[in-house]
Amino acid sequence: MSTQSHNPPPPPCAIVIFGANGDLTKRLIVPALYNLARTGLLPERLTLIGVDHNKKTDAEWQGAVKEFLLGILKKNGEALDEKLWGQVARRMIFLSGGDFEKTETYQRLCECLEAEDKKDSLGGNVLFYMAVADRFFATIAKMLGEAGLVSSEAKGFRRVIVEKPFGHDLHSAKALNACLLKYLKEEQIYRIDHFLGKETVQNIMALRFANGLFEPIWNRDRIDHIQITVAESIGIEGRGNFYEKTGALRDMVPNHLFQLVAMTAMEPPVSFDAEDIRAKKAELFKAMPTLAVTDVVRGQYDAGTVQSEQVVAYRREPNVAPDSNIETYVAMRLKIDNWRWAGVPFYLRTGKRLNIRSSEIAIRFKQAPFALFRNTPVDELDADWLILRIQPDEGIRLRFNAKRPGPAMTLESVSMRFNYKDYFHQAPAVGYETLIYDCLTGDATLFQRADQVEAAWALVEPVLKGWAHTTPRHFPNYAAGTEGPSAANDLLAKDGRSWRDIRILGGK
Ligand SMILES: NC(=O)c1ccc[n+]([C@@H]2O[C@H](COP(=O)([O-])OP(=O)(O)OC[C@H]3O[C@@H](n4cnc5c(N)ncnc54)[C@H](OP(=O)(O)O)[C@@H]3O)[C@@H](O)[C@H]2O)c1
Repeated sequence: MSTQSHNPPPPPCAIVIFGANGDLTKRLIVPALYNLARTGLLPERLTLIGVDHNKKTDAEWQGAVKEFLLGILKKNGEALDEKLWGQVARRMIFLSGGDFEKTETYQRLCECLEAEDKKDSLGGNVLFYMAVADRFFATIAKMLGEAGLVSSEAKGFRRVIVEKPFGHDLHSAKALNACLLKYLKEEQIYRIDHFLGKETVQNIMALRFANGLFEPIWNRDRIDHIQITVAESIGIEGRGNFYEKTGALRDMVPNHLFQLVAMTAMEPPVSFDAEDIRAKKAELFKAMPTLAVTDVVRGQYDAGTVQSEQVVAYRREPNVAPDSNIETYVAMRLKIDNWRWAGVPFYLRTGKRLNIRSSEIAIRFKQAPFALFRNTPVDELDADWLILRIQPDEGIRLRFNAKRPGPAMTLESVSMRFNYKDYFHQAPAVGYETLIYDCLTGDATLFQRADQVEAAWALVEPVLKGWAHTTPRHFPNYAAGTEGPSAANDLLAKDGRSWRDIRILGGK
């Protein structure tokens, strides 16, 4: 994993983007490359080759992505640095009309790569980025393999970034892995989870393993339970076709939420080497019993008001069936059966059209063992919490009890805050910079290994199967702009616990 400020730029290479005219390329990949150029972390010699069935000249492609970049910079009140942009744009080549499914595309790509390597001494290094719909992942891997473009005998490195979603269930994830691994070695594959590109997610490892303070209390002796929340106030943003096939569980849980669990709960690795960290994550997934339908609550939003705006019900969104049973909210209770976490539940929730956009990991510590302040309202006070804020307002809060000034012994819960932005200058980022830099330097720490992806799908498989055969009751079951369905509260109430109030997630 990189610490950007002191790191050297990656070696010269070509980056081939499949889906070069798509949204991800324009909105995130090319802006991330521009941001890497700002921090001196772009290869000094770089060729960017776009493959897409759309027809464009090199100049038209450059113009199209530049327009997006200008829009992003304008939003941040910044101007384009033409010199930096030149570092990205000077070798942008568009393989116009390049159909992913045609052999001829890969012949042209081979010729282009050879010519560019000769011209710019790229050392034979190539990073292939599959910025395409998931139905093309296997085809592109096969075509690259058959064209000899990902051979382990190639002169330089040959790596492949695979976007999400990685499968729709255990069976499809296994089939995709099998197909990729027919043409690629595991160490060539970088399965992206953009949540892991967030600074605060990476900071979980720094917090846990660079400080002697936390490790002794990071276990069942001191921790009562952990709540992980990824709340979104937006709806499905016109992606009805996609969401109707996906739903909140598939979209968020086996990837993003389980990765947050892994970062929080894995054992300390012996080194920060990617394989050591991945081994610890794999061990953790092994300790998690598969979820039962009764451990999980699903919800779907109805019409409502989100931040003063009237919004329609999920079933009224474009390209959504009027009787859709797809969930837009999911909450669950997870167990980890190992020495460290036995008896400490992990509660996870995520949903759309909630009343706030906020992501956090909240660690609730056990109450003081003895109610010393018996005659004060101490029993009503909150327990201590450590809150890792992921977005927005990245930072860490520690909530604990303090004495209110005055003659009476009155206690109140207070908050100690560390805000990232108060301590560090954060270089502008779209969230893909670290991930792309790590691929270019061959650091797979933040990427998922085949076994991890399959283990995560295996954990949710019984729920997916159970839901496929039962109709959810009372859908839609939460109004847009609220905290989600009341059944999610019942899930914790059964254990004598309650969720942190979603409205104050950002504040306390
Ligand atoms: N967009 C995001 O914010 C985002 C965020 C996270 C992850 N992702 C993931 O990133 C991947 C790409 O997403 P995207 O939104 O960029 O998709 P997209 O906008 O559909 O881009 C894909 C590009 O590939 C082209 N294409 C389609 N079929 C082709 C073929 N047979 N041969 C050659 N080109 C072809 C498309 O052209 P036409 O459109 O003309 O068909 C389009 O230009 C997906 O896996 C998605 O899940 C996207």
